[in-house]
Amino acid sequence: MAAPKFLPGVAGARTLDAADELAALRREFELPREQGRTLIYLCGHSLGLMPRAARRTVSAELDRWAMLGVDGHFPDARPPRGRPRPLREPHGGWLDYHTQFTGPLAELVGAYRDEVVAMNTLTVNLHLMLATFFRPTKERYKILIERDAFSSDRYAIESQLRWHGLDPQTALLELSSRPGSFELDREHYEALLAEEGERIALVLLPGVQYLSGERLDLAAYAASARRYGCVVGFDLAHAIGNVPLTLHDAGADFAVWCSYKYLNAGPGAVGGCFVHRRHGAAAELPRLAGWWGHDRARRFLMEPNFVPLLGAEGWQVSNPPILSLAPLAASLALFAAAGMKRLRRKSLHLTRYLEWQLVRELTGRVRFLTPADPQRRGCHVAVQFDPAPRNPRAFAARLRAAGLVADWRRPNVLRLAPVPLYNRYRDVYAAVQAVRHTLDA
Ligand SMILES: Cc1ncc(COP(=O)(O)O)c(C=O)c1O
Repeated sequence: MAAPKFLPGVAGARTLDAADELAALRREFELPREQGRTLIYLCGHSLGLMPRAARRTVSAELDRWAMLGVDGHFPDARPPRGRPRPLREPHGGWLDYHTQFTGPLAELVGAYRDEVVAMNTLTVNLHLMLATFFRPTKERYKILIERDAFSSDRYAIESQLRWHGLDPQTALLELSSRPGSFELDREHYEALLAEEGERIALVLLPGVQYLSGERLDLAAYAASARRYGCVVGFDLAHAIGNVPLTLHDAGADFAVWCSYKYLNAGPGAVGGCFVHRRHGAAAELPRLAGWWGHDRARRFLMEPNFVPLLGAEGWQVSNPPILSLAPLAASLALFAAAGMKRLRRKSLHLTRYLEWQLVRELTGRVRFLTPADPQRRGCHVAVQFDPAPRNPRAFAARLRAAGLVADWRRPNVLRLAPVPLYNRYRDVYAAVQAVRHTLDA
């Protein structure tokens, strides 16, 4: 892809905003403010902004609860007699509320509808998936993760190993980064598989690495692992809603994600899970079951025998938290309106602009942790400063005082995520100016 030409200064940013076909979407979000000014929010990789429509989708469910009580579980085809209709739109009832997300989520992760389900939170889903897919034997009992895996993934994996009576010292393999780089080392990966493949039960890798922002070629990583008979799972926390995904074709066995980052569904929002079709009909697969994964038509018969629903839905455990799901409806409607293709196109350009601004304004003072190839990254760019800020805590406080909300990781990593749904080129321009002034201060 030819490098785009950008114009310097705020005028250059304004020109880009004027040409942005998705610019109007910003008005669909609440923008954090402080002391009368709108903050420069480049932190969507941590917590996405609130879609304005989320108030409506949540309060619609509160109204429904207030007016219908337990009847709210059932479709509006049976309106309660003598009570005003609480909703502006027909409602399918809470029993199947989560199924409205299946189609949009399947599209975002590149899956069939029966392969995805909105449920729980990321680490809980990871444990549920490991309960099914990590079945260590005497010969095959190891798990391979990246050395710098997100802490919760590591805790989950280590606890699963111990749960099975295994010692992480011997049963956990770690994929390192390329020497002198933050990018995962594909050669090391292939070497680990060649050496240990027959003993590796499961590989867990990220879709986009949470710190460096590297986007992995999931199909290639999965194909290598599957050649050795390993189960492959992906953590899509930083990938879903950020980069295009083709989980089914990539051949992943399972994947898990959260919805509070690029999916803008709010703090602690309900996450999701992918289970490849080749497992979806395997009723005999061991799992940690609950009644919401049971045959829907027989769920209330309270029979002793568990009969799992086909597909990813069969891994549900509890009835879903409707109030934590409701904001997802507001956000996914915006994804549907914008389309992932257009979002990705803007994202590639916006992140290139961020990189260009950083190089231009901070030549020689900034080192990129994120791959330079736009196809190998998503929205976020991670940098280190040279020299490192002498007082990291004070540096973070000054950045914040300058109105920038980004993610500062001590001792010396700044993650900046321009999100195509709501960020402008002007935000990127202002963010880099804030960083430069803070470094110069
Ligand atoms: C890469 C990654 N994995 C796992 C998690 C943990 O998610 P949760 O707290 O929803 O389980 C996070 C949270 O930010 C994350 O970034």
